[in-house]
Amino acid sequence: MPQIKVHDKTFDTFLSELEIHNQIKRIAQEINKDFAGKRPLFIAILNGSFMFASDLFKELTIEAEVCFIKLASYKGIKSTGQVVTSIGLDVSLKGRDVIIIEDIVDTGKTLSEFLPQIENQGPSSIKIATLLHKPEALIFPLHLDYIGFSVANKFLLGYGLDYDGLGRNLKEIFQLVE
Ligand code: IMP
Ligand code: MG
Repeated sequence: MPQIKVHDKTFDTFLSELEIHNQIKRIAQEINKDFAGKRPLFIAILNGSFMFASDLFKELTIEAEVCFIKLASYKGIKSTGQVVTSIGLDVSLKGRDVIIIEDIVDTGKTLSEFLPQIENQGPSSIKIATLLHKPEALIFPLHLDYIGFSVANKFLLGYGLDYDGLGRNLKEIFQLVE
């Protein structure tokens, strides 16, 4: 299995480009069906979700809008438990069908802090689409509507996910060798 080194750590290949894209197509088909005749507003959470957001958005055949916000809770390979917002929402959510796009739901802290801010704005519905989910790491209970992969509680890298800023450009997803 090909390994890569980023900063001081070694990673194994975990999910191939094809596996990732197959799951994204499946999620897009579900969204195309569930939101037929509607015009959902996707809110992609930066930085990590930019690749997933872009590939998912390209597979949509319904009318859809997208905007971006920036939330961060990770430093190195650990969650800090603090969610920092550095780019806020600049679009009205009133009466909108909102679909949040996340790269990975780990403890659930980021989304459980962000969801009330969205609910306060009176959208008509809120759904969550995440490429990756670590069920064993979840501390803040959340209902996830669209999940690409449920994975073990190990640190992942690539396809938008970083380790201290590096690795986001990788086309596959890698897992930390412990
Ligand atoms: P949560 O708030 O603990 O659910 O963490 C969510 C955020 O932490 C994600 O959007 C990622 O940016 C980051 N994160 C969680 N797990 C990983 C990982 O395995 N690799 C890289 N980033 C991660
Ligand atoms: Mg993220």
